[in-house]
Amino acid sequence: MAHKRYTDPDPAIDAKVAELLSGMSLEEKIGQMTQRGMAPGMTDKHSPVTKGALGSTLGVFDTAKINEMQRRAVEESRLGIPLIVGNDVIHGYRTIFPIPLGEACSWDLDLIERTARMAAEEASAAGTDWIFAPMVDIARDGRWGRIAEGSGEDPVLDCAIARARVRGYQSEGLASGKRIVACPKHFVAYGAAESGKDYNTVDLSENLLRDVYLPPFLAALEEGAGSIMSAFNDINGVPASANSFTLRTILREEWDWSGVVLSDAHAVGELIDHGVAADYEDAACQAVTAGVDIDMGSAAYPDHLAAAVRAGKVSETLIDEAAGRVLRLKLMLGLFEQATVDESLTARLLGCREHRTLAREAAVKSMVLLKNDRDALPIKPAGKTIAVIGPLADHRRAPLGCWHCDGRPDDVTTILEGIRAAAADKARIIHIAGCGLGDDEHDGFDDAIHAASDADVAIVVVGEDADMSGEAQCRAYLGLPGVQEDLVEAVAATGTPTVAVLLTGRPLAIPTVAEDVDALLVAWHPGVEAGTAAADLLFGKANPSGKLAVTFPRAVGQIPIYYAHRSTGRPAHGEGTEDWNKPYKSRYRDEWNSPLFPFGFGLSYSAFVYDALQILTPAVRPDGTLRVRVDVTNAGDVTGDEIVQVYVRDVVASLTRPVKELKAFQRVTIAPGETRELTFEIPAASLGFTNARMQYVVEPGRFEVQVGPSSAEGLVGSFQVVE
Ligand code: BGC
Repeated sequence: MAHKRYTDPDPAIDAKVAELLSGMSLEEKIGQMTQRGMAPGMTDKHSPVTKGALGSTLGVFDTAKINEMQRRAVEESRLGIPLIVGNDVIHGYRTIFPIPLGEACSWDLDLIERTARMAAEEASAAGTDWIFAPMVDIARDGRWGRIAEGSGEDPVLDCAIARARVRGYQSEGLASGKRIVACPKHFVAYGAAESGKDYNTVDLSENLLRDVYLPPFLAALEEGAGSIMSAFNDINGVPASANSFTLRTILREEWDWSGVVLSDAHAVGELIDHGVAADYEDAACQAVTAGVDIDMGSAAYPDHLAAAVRAGKVSETLIDEAAGRVLRLKLMLGLFEQATVDESLTARLLGCREHRTLAREAAVKSMVLLKNDRDALPIKPAGKTIAVIGPLADHRRAPLGCWHCDGRPDDVTTILEGIRAAAADKARIIHIAGCGLGDDEHDGFDDAIHAASDADVAIVVVGEDADMSGEAQCRAYLGLPGVQEDLVEAVAATGTPTVAVLLTGRPLAIPTVAEDVDALLVAWHPGVEAGTAAADLLFGKANPSGKLAVTFPRAVGQIPIYYAHRSTGRPAHGEGTEDWNKPYKSRYRDEWNSPLFPFGFGLSYSAFVYDALQILTPAVRPDGTLRVRVDVTNAGDVTGDEIVQVYVRDVVASLTRPVKELKAFQRVTIAPGETRELTFEIPAASLGFTNARMQYVVEPGRFEVQVGPSSAEGLVGSFQVVE
């Protein structure tokens, strides 16, 4: 029988919730609204667990301890209510897949669903019930370290990926026999932090909130996510974890959603630091009134909420509603029937071969080839000398990236190991680090230059360590740390064909590196199969297919830079030409407007040719369907996957509109010489925007459509939306 969705109506469950609530003290109800991490004595007989003072946990990974806590909760607490065990399973549990930003570059929804399912499989086997993911925050600022955790800058791509991840996490039939609930985060607009600094203030028009930042959350909830996490940031002065407009008006009223709202870590207590709450009691009252059901970690609820209710500052009905939602989720998860897991499962499942095979596929599809001059790639290794250089070439931790959960450096195949395994029997492989990751000395450069000079090809592996992106890891400079750029320059200056492999958690501003090298492969933080996957691509066993889910800037001063920027009154056309150079246009004196690499861009060893664009519906009604057809031919000599992208521009509207917006995409495999005729069906309802009166409208008039291999190029046509 198919599982019920967590928010589906179920009178029997509702009756059970009412029955439980009627027997609970105020403190026990608030216990359900309390989440904590592991603390000394948590598995003891007299712990918050047995007192019914804890509803859920975070950051507890030890399966034996989880089982012990669950057993005590069920057998020794007064009401026998199990815990929900929540954890950050962001890109894998033990088998680490590429960071989400990397995986988004695959644009492969089936793959993304499969990796999410496998992460859920491992997490569930180890005792986790609740995955604090997907992170669906749109991010258009590479300085923000958490850009690594999301799906990039575009709401349409982000929505599709959010749905795939929720489907994967909440899959049926996990080996543990339990279910997982997903938690899209961080609600909302966390990625719009001013100056790319984590936790920073967000000032955002409601139009942008509705058109760009909210849709991925709605998509995740429509797909059945049973919970949501309220963010740290404020939005136009109101902290997200005390924001009744987002948490009640939008979430409960407009979206009619009945799942659980969990605060981000300590976000309730931080209302004091935001300067909107006088003390913890005030913070607790504001959060619960705004609609936060569970306080993650700040102790404002467990320590102050009961007194506030007794003093009449908060109605007990609000407590019943919040605790009731938590109980309902526990019942829907089946925790009352099964709270513990079979501890022997982890040994069989975690990091098993099948999971690693998927990690390899995911890493291959996530990597993006950004430059390939002089056919530097793929490398034909037979009889060659290959110099593998750079501080990350044999680095075991960097490939894991941020939030690598139970991932272990020992599980990682480094880039060097992957290259050796693929080519050591055919080629001579020399390895020289050249410098350390954050070094400011050039001491090792001579050896690196020597090795490169002696080689037929140099592969330089550079970038960021695992902990340079993720929460609180913001950067003001987006070049390669330390002297790595000098190293790349020195190696390339030898004249030996030079390939850079970039391990990174964010888009970097590296124009000099991109200029110096013959080939540039962005591997992101690719997970445990880093080396195998990179070698697959470097030697042509696999064909690169990833396309950027985020724009690479030329300079930090261009940020925020994203393809879907709005039209200005003084657009600078024809960059690089005389026209572009005319003054009083929207441009910089000292840098181009264009990015280093645009959204949607990525090269292949195949050559895809676009032709015969047809707009099959030159006039579309707002409730109709836009149909577009295009031919894509593989004019190369290897089979490849192309990600075909459709962008639309609303030419004249009541408000300024983006110069283009992604509306559809297809990932297709095309054999050499083959032409694929592709049809896209785009609901005209998706072509609208939030107008000045905050209504979503599809306005009649002329639209342009661009179909091509990236946001920056393609065949162009037009159509009308007619009433
Ligand atoms: C992060 C969340 C995470 C939570 C629990 C917070 O600091 O912002 O993304 O889920 O910690 O670890």
